Amino acid sequence: MNTLAILLLTFILSVTGLFVFIWSLRKHLFDDNPAAANVIFSEGEIGKVEEPAATEAQRNALQSAVDATHTPTVDPARDARMNIELAERVQADRSTAYATFVFLACAVAWLIFASTAGLISSIKLHEPDFLTQYAWLTFGRLRTLHLNAVAYGWAPMAAFGIAIWTLPRLLKTPLMGGRFALLGAMLWNAALIAGLGSIAAGFNDGLEWLEIPWQIDILFVIGGALIGLPLVFTLQNRKVGHLYVSIWYMGAALFWFPILFLVGNIPGVHFGVEQATMNWWFGHNVLGLFYTPIALASVYYFLPKIIGRPIQSYNLSLLGFWALAFFYGQVGGHHLIGGPVPGWLITLSIVQSVMMVVPVLAFSVNQHMTMRHHFKTLIYSPTLRFIVLGGMMYTLSSVQGSLEALRSVNTVTHFTHFTVAHAHLGLYGFFSLVMFGAIYFVMPRVMSWEWPYPKLIALHFWLVVVGFGIYFVGLSIGGWLQGVAMLDASRPFMESVRLTIPYLESRSVGGALMTLGHLVFAAHFFAMALRYGPRRVGPALFHKPAALLAAMAEA
Ligand code: HEM
Ligand code: HEM
Repeated sequence: MNTLAILLLTFILSVTGLFVFIWSLRKHLFDDNPAAANVIFSEGEIGKVEEPAATEAQRNALQSAVDATHTPTVDPARDARMNIELAERVQADRSTAYATFVFLACAVAWLIFASTAGLISSIKLHEPDFLTQYAWLTFGRLRTLHLNAVAYGWAPMAAFGIAIWTLPRLLKTPLMGGRFALLGAMLWNAALIAGLGSIAAGFNDGLEWLEIPWQIDILFVIGGALIGLPLVFTLQNRKVGHLYVSIWYMGAALFWFPILFLVGNIPGVHFGVEQATMNWWFGHNVLGLFYTPIALASVYYFLPKIIGRPIQSYNLSLLGFWALAFFYGQVGGHHLIGGPVPGWLITLSIVQSVMMVVPVLAFSVNQHMTMRHHFKTLIYSPTLRFIVLGGMMYTLSSVQGSLEALRSVNTVTHFTHFTVAHAHLGLYGFFSLVMFGAIYFVMPRVMSWEWPYPKLIALHFWLVVVGFGIYFVGLSIGGWLQGVAMLDASRPFMESVRLTIPYLESRSVGGALMTLGHLVFAAHFFAMALRYGPRRVGPALFHKPAALLAAMAEA
């Protein structure tokens, strides 16, 4: 088939999809669908907030804010049934506690390592003589250590930890075969330590995002498979008929990632231009089909749970899932705009990049409509602040990405710091903020222990939000000016380098604040793990620690 026909077909399919979307909206197919959206609540639980990271006072205020939006009903018989269901949830939480803790503790440790490497790399870009005495401390290696510690340490450890905790809850079934996950975590982390060691020593595969030598990748594959096994066993033995949308996103991400990783790392198959194309097929799909769906699944679960309100439109959430699955797979080519790659492939990736507005809008509209009349809850819920802001950053990074994929814009932004700002908007502003929120929610349940110093959660939030604001704004402006200067043949190249220095300095200031925020987070996390501070009543703070739950906690 000729290339024009392929492009035309893709375009027609995409536009048809858009029209089906608009038609469905007009037919009210996306309106409230309580039956499916309610499955994450026990009977009578809607209208009751669940916010383990909040203090007693914050939780009461949160509940009052939610009560103001609907009329609470009293039904003792129903509440008794609800307590039995909550007890089942406690069982599911118990079954995952150990494995979740191991994954999240590793995630936090890698976050600190990655942030330090990122900060030093950043300083080196405006202070080139800083720490140059050892080869492993040079920019090329340290930057690669930063990226790999983020991509294979912080992000997947947090993602696996949250998935392992959430799926048994959603499937109303205790986790089965948790030991496999623990063994998998050990192998994965051993592989990462070996991989980072080899990068620091100067050995790597030479492809961005795939630097770790393929021999070590074999360990990741075995480790990843072991981590996936308990989730498959639990899914097979589930006690629910309907699979909530978060299960779709998480399940698909955990299915897509091994395929990407295997294809991306098989040695001796791809060469030259084909290799570059495969490199970016992997590069963007690991972002779009692994980290992104895990974070979206988390928003779709934690946001409604915290405010005690089902998502506005369940059908819209499913449309977002299918549109993401349909469009994201082909966008990788937008990293090679201007490269020696067939034009049709690039155009295809641009069309798909722009069509990504469909799943992105589906998510944003749904998040906004669910939060409508509930924005006041942000004042009282520390978790919700991270999650809602993270969700907004998804919209922002994706809309920015769709524009950045256009040839006219990419001509300016490619090879500049603008791309790096966008990268952090997506993987930090969106993914990492959502993961912070999810970890704040999950940990009190995992440890049956309260966050010891609630003010540190607020401090963490403001440090990273202000730090990231400085990082993103400075680097976006600097990157754009750099791109414009590079395109101007009358200006010497060095001018495009020199003009970025103040913006690079501002990135170091922002990055230092973010790193400080991560240190606060890590100190708080490990203080909780060491059981500092007060112990709460009942199995970690369900909205009303009923006598039944308290008795179970004692048992
Ligand atoms: C509709 C959605 C999105 C589109 C169309 C998009 C598009 C783009 C484009 C055009 C680039 C620059 C390529 C270049 O000039 O080299 C880019 C880079 C990047 N994007 Fe996105 N983006 C989207 C969403 C996201 C999200 C949600 C994340 C994070 C979860 C993300 C993370 C990144 C990263 C990390 C890079 C830098 C990759 C590298 O050079 O190492 N993007 N994206
Ligand atoms: C969880 C937190 C973080 C995540 C997820 C993250 C993610 C990333 C990603 C995906 C890239 C590759 C970007 C590209 O090639 O376009 C990158 C590069 C980089 N990051 Fe981060 N980062 C984080 C924190 C930080 C911090 C705190 C700093 C401190 C300033 C920092 C500084 C850098 C630098 C200097 C680069 C290299 C940019 C270049 O090559 O020009 N990052 N980071």
